[in-house]
Amino acid sequence: MPSDILEFRDVTVRFREETIYRDLSFAVREGEFLCILGPSGCGKSTSLRLMGGLLPFDSGTVEVEGEPPSKGWQKLAYVFQQPRLVPWRDALGNVVLGMELRNGDASRSAMEAKARALLELVGLGRDMGKYPAMLSGGERQRVAIARALSVDPHVVLMDEPFSALDLNTRRRLRAEIISIWRETGKTVVFVTHDIDEALVLADRVLLLSDKPTRILETIEINESRPRDIDSAPSLKRQRIHLIGLFRQLEKHDRAAASADSIIEEEIA
Ligand SMILES: Nc1ncnc2c1ncn2[C@@H]1O[C@H](COP(=O)(O)OP(=O)(O)OP(=O)(O)O)[C@@H](O)[C@H]1O
Ligand SMILES: [Mg+2]
Repeated sequence: MPSDILEFRDVTVRFREETIYRDLSFAVREGEFLCILGPSGCGKSTSLRLMGGLLPFDSGTVEVEGEPPSKGWQKLAYVFQQPRLVPWRDALGNVVLGMELRNGDASRSAMEAKARALLELVGLGRDMGKYPAMLSGGERQRVAIARALSVDPHVVLMDEPFSALDLNTRRRLRAEIISIWRETGKTVVFVTHDIDEALVLADRVLLLSDKPTRILETIEINESRPRDIDSAPSLKRQRIHLIGLFRQLEKHDRAAASADSIIEEEIA
């Protein structure tokens, strides 16, 4: 049994009057591809921020390899929805920058050699000298993936990394991230609000509820990859099941919104 590499125990987060998490608990297993799925605003990005120690929480425990995030953050690297590259450096320079910022003591030539190998890994072997403005959206996101891997993280945290890309690029990058995950053996925590994306990628899907957020369901997916939902009955069933749960969450949301407006009207 693989051990847990990240753990949330009874985590409560409040922003002013609003409770985002109340006693949220889950663990990430070493080496797994975990998808965190949930409706907009349920706290998916918040969970990644907590892991990286970027956000304080009110009570509970968050551990990265048994340590608090303030120590464990060095084991993690992020890939965001937008690649966040610096425009004045080429692809190679952007990956090197990731290393400079994290562990600036390696020699320039060692960092460049590593950046080259990683850009090869993400399929940009011939585009290393291109600046961000010369790269497509998908290529920029590949640079961001190489930059994340360059600091030798144990866990790669990905926050809707493909959602700004067109459908075909998104499909291609999903397949690529699976092969990179296999090749590197990293643990991946991948946030998405796209049911099909989670079903195609994950070993395990955590479905988050609306706020105050809890784990509504955990789904283990044993289907072999590459996956095609339409030709895999078990994935099709999961898709229908998840669509149903999402609808309920949205209804709940609408009911909460209309309750809020009734209260507001009464106060007015
Ligand atoms: N710094 C903050 N101050 C106040 N509220 C915040 C702050 N950061 C997040 N929130 C609230 O916490 C909730 C969860 O936010 P989060 O960004 O984690 O959602 P999400 O699930 O990633 O949504 P999306 O799918 O839209 O990216 C939201 O209701 C948001 O308004
Ligand atoms: Mg988010």
